[in-house]
Amino acid sequence: MAVSLDLLPARIRHRFPVFERQVYVNSCSQGALSDSVREAYARYLDDWDEHGAPWEYWVGRLEAVRSAIAGLVNAGEDEIAVTTSVSAGVSALVSGIRFGDGRDTIVVSDFEFPTIGQISHAQERRGVRVVHVPAEADGTIPLERFEAAVDERTALVAVTHVCFRNGGRLDVEGVGRIAHAAGAPVLVDAYQTIGSLPIDVRALDCDFLAAGVLKYLLGSAGLGFLYCRRELVQGIEPTATGWFADRNIFEMDIHDYSPAANARRFEAGTPPVPSTYAAIAGIELMQEIGIAETEAHVRELNALLRGGLEELGATVVTPAEPERSGALLCVRSTDIDELVAALESGGIVTSSRDDNLRISAHCYNTAEDVGALLGALSANRRLLA
Ligand SMILES: Cc1ncc(COP(=O)(O)O)c(C=O)c1O
Repeated sequence: MAVSLDLLPARIRHRFPVFERQVYVNSCSQGALSDSVREAYARYLDDWDEHGAPWEYWVGRLEAVRSAIAGLVNAGEDEIAVTTSVSAGVSALVSGIRFGDGRDTIVVSDFEFPTIGQISHAQERRGVRVVHVPAEADGTIPLERFEAAVDERTALVAVTHVCFRNGGRLDVEGVGRIAHAAGAPVLVDAYQTIGSLPIDVRALDCDFLAAGVLKYLLGSAGLGFLYCRRELVQGIEPTATGWFADRNIFEMDIHDYSPAANARRFEAGTPPVPSTYAAIAGIELMQEIGIAETEAHVRELNALLRGGLEELGATVVTPAEPERSGALLCVRSTDIDELVAALESGGIVTSSRDDNLRISAHCYNTAEDVGALLGALSANRRLLA
């Protein structure tokens, strides 16, 4: 067990200097910094210094990110908007949806990240109704709950792939089938899964998918994307917009609004140039490491972790069924701030939401990392619920 668990990190861990100092199990917040992402940032500064304002090259970088993301999720380049965050892409999308002809409702799961709930409720100013799909006490949201919430008034269903609060994974394909049967499109927030498992928008059969490169894709802050199914693009005219969303950016026409014919219409202003360098480096590194291999590796690490937590009598709030969880595993605490601080003082980096400790292993984590974490949790047993 331990040997196979060390194979992947043995190949790549040396590229992430943080492990010389810390046990980093917080990739649900941000991936560890690699040598190649650090070099990418250095290259950005060199290019800036050497060429002054190499805008043609920088716009080329933007197109390279678009292409990398399209390849990553099995979409066409014309279906990808490169944005500065999930929030920016989803705001542009929702601003362009016509809520009318009896379709006035956004259905959101109670597992959504704040930005999805807040953008949806912001549409109440436009007369939109927001319906929440509640979770069960066991940390799941069964499909029947979505069936009860979605109907002919539904204009959009928003569903997260893995919940940032408790690690629960939703049946997004099943939710998509329910939405489509009612004639509504589905938006998947895949930020807690992209890079940790293979994502294929065709296999998921989703209409929109938003994510970013900061976490399991090993990029950095400032760059997200929105996938929009080709057939739907032209029916959506974002009112949250900007000149980089225009049909012809360099026309500089201030007398009309003519959005790009493709998903670029969901973009806005000057692209996040430094983050494009990091995004390309991070995505390429994750592809070189292997996303499917990473998923299998983290499943094994999490099985080891669950076993140790069970021995400690800890309460794992992430559902146990393999299809109901992803990389993130959450454990209930009696004093979460004290627990995170106690772990940090021992060189173990985690994070928290609600009363839950969030532990998120990735390709670079080892069985020793899990052992160190379990040892520290055992020493702080009184802080586990
Ligand atoms: C599920 C999920 N969605 C969205 C975000 C962030 O969105 P944004 O790129 O708008 O900051 C996060 C994490 O920060 C997240 O975990």
